[in-house]
Amino acid sequence: MRLWRTLTWFYRAATKGAQVRALPKEVGLSTDVMIEANGLTKRYGAFRALDKVSFEVHRGEVVGFLGPNGAGKSTTMRILTCFISATGGTARVHGYDVFDDPLEVRKKIGYLPQRAPLYGEMSVWEYLTFVADMRGLETATFKKRMKNIVEVCGLATSLGKDIRDLSHGYRQRVGLAQALVHDPPILILDEPTSDLDPNEKAEVIKYIQEIGKERTILLSTHNLSEVEQACARAIIVSKGRIVADGPLEEIRAKSGRVRYVVQVHEKRVFEGGPAKKAPSAEEVQTALEKLPGVTSVVELPTDDRAHSFQLAGAQDGDIRAEIFQLIVSKGWLLLEMRREAQKLEDVFKALTKNDERRDRGRPVVEDDEDEAEAAAEDEDEDEDEDESAEDESDEDESDEDEDEDESDEDDKKKKG
Ligand SMILES: Nc1ncnc2c1ncn2[C@@H]1O[C@H](COP(=O)(O)OP(=O)(O)OP(=O)(O)O)[C@@H](O)[C@H]1O
Ligand SMILES: [Mg+2]
Repeated sequence: MRLWRTLTWFYRAATKGAQVRALPKEVGLSTDVMIEANGLTKRYGAFRALDKVSFEVHRGEVVGFLGPNGAGKSTTMRILTCFISATGGTARVHGYDVFDDPLEVRKKIGYLPQRAPLYGEMSVWEYLTFVADMRGLETATFKKRMKNIVEVCGLATSLGKDIRDLSHGYRQRVGLAQALVHDPPILILDEPTSDLDPNEKAEVIKYIQEIGKERTILLSTHNLSEVEQACARAIIVSKGRIVADGPLEEIRAKSGRVRYVVQVHEKRVFEGGPAKKAPSAEEVQTALEKLPGVTSVVELPTDDRAHSFQLAGAQDGDIRAEIFQLIVSKGWLLLEMRREAQKLEDVFKALTKNDERRDRGRPVVEDDEDEAEAAAEDEDEDEDEDESAEDESDEDESDEDEDEDESDEDDKKKKG
């Protein structure tokens, strides 16, 4: 009897803490909010890297976290994963406060930092075993998980190699593998596909789509087509502030614009029609500008056969019929007409263009002023951007590590 009482006492004593702690978890989770940032602010000296950032990510959502370089994406992710502390505001992950309950938060997340810190002297297998040990995984569970992870991350031929001998892309794969080892319900992935080759990029995005069905994923990337493939929702940050948050269709419709491209023959007219001679560019532009629903008309560069224009109209309207009627009534020859719905990339550019201009030392512009420039530069800019994104990703790793150390120092002081 005495033994039974002693055992009961031990059991109650051991489970008491757990019961008390269990309550807030359940309350926190009853809302389905897996990630909650509330007024997050991060200052480095006088510089504000994050300014009152608030958002929620619900269970099962795959959210694209977008923004230009230096927007504050990694900073937000580091706060959510307990690597650095916020200067102001609060954040909860899986119902736990990132400041008060960092160990519980870390159990629930898989985090791939932008530059994953890895131990170069370990082999890939040793490193992943080490991560699994730290995560408290049983050997059998680890081996079972590894089958899937090796396939998804394309690591089958690299398991025995030392990490220091891996190429940058393969290190990224190992970083992704360590984030998945414990099969966490929440994944926070900071540019998981940067430096991967196109095959591997596609493989990782496919995997994210697949696991996103039952997990919560916050994914930062500069590749907007990846967001269109994998995410139903996006959050766009710029200079430390949220400038858009919502389903992709809503974000695409955010600028409220749709583009039309119209080309009219420069030398010929419609035979038997009212026009005696081909129109000048000014004539066509003036006529297009008068159409109801047209907000701007910008001439596009073209060969000497056609006058080409880009028109902007309301997102929910369609004025192709009016454009056609105008051209028929004038007796001009229509060479091309197409309507282009707003792309995520256009909205991204529109929402962040002034920050981009400030970075380049160019004057800030109003929406309409920028139309002509944007239209003319469109194609060239796309190419430039791809290149600069690659350059950026080749940044020296040691710089990043230093930053991380410094900010950790900062935080220790703050916490201390
Ligand atoms: N340790 C630090 N000390 C000072 N400033 C910092 C530190 N870490 C980040 N910053 C600044 O905070 C801002 C946000 O940086 P962050 O790394 O979050 O940007 P990001 O959106 O992830 O950009 P990228 O797309 O280039 O990865 C930048 O201006 C950056 O220079
Ligand atoms: Mg970053």
